[in-house]
Amino acid sequence: MIRIAPSILSADFAHLGRDVERVSTADWLHVDVMDGMFVSNISIGVPVVKSLRKFSEMFLDVHLMIEKPVRYIDAFADAGADLLCVHLEADMPPGIRAALEAMDRRGVKKGIALRPITAAQAVLPYVKDVDLILVMTVEPGFGGQKFMADQLEKIAAIRQYIDQYNPDCRLEVDGGIDPTTARQVVAAGADTLVAGSAVYGAADPAAAIQALREA
Ligand code: DX5
Ligand code: ZN
Repeated sequence: MIRIAPSILSADFAHLGRDVERVSTADWLHVDVMDGMFVSNISIGVPVVKSLRKFSEMFLDVHLMIEKPVRYIDAFADAGADLLCVHLEADMPPGIRAALEAMDRRGVKKGIALRPITAAQAVLPYVKDVDLILVMTVEPGFGGQKFMADQLEKIAAIRQYIDQYNPDCRLEVDGGIDPTTARQVVAAGADTLVAGSAVYGAADPAAAIQALREA
């Protein structure tokens, strides 16, 4: 089944509770954490995840766009994240391994993310050990960018790896997802769709979520 994960990066942070309620028909809530180093932008961090956890029972899908994420796994687990996703480009392999082991110890679901430049094969050492692989279809850092169709091949390749090595792993796509691009990434093998502007830019976010589901 396709899961829809609205990205609160496109929400109004002065009315975050209201904007979370506006997407309550979705499956997951996608939370973009940016440190101004791994990506140029700075967004939100641990205290916001903690407040979201108190406010909502939605599954918190936390996308860490931060350098050396192993430093913050415990803090985000304490804050109540359900899944933590680290970028393979954000540390050397031993650091990524250590982050995944920390997630295991804390009982949070484990995700790895790939920038557009990173090849599908980069997931091979991890595919058996993770709950989710996130393919970025924009350069991470900002909402509202144009979908990169050249990532479709990568999505299809990773779908094959998942089917072969770890069929329970989710394949998430993030960046420029609207009903048209949703159809393309689902055809390529994605099963979990992040959408920021397509949901929060719509007059009726619940209808936008439904349109993505049916894409
Ligand atoms: C970008 C973030 C995305 C962003 C997607 O770095 O990871 O989650 O919010 O926004 P849209 O759906 O507008 O491309
Ligand atoms: Zn994201």
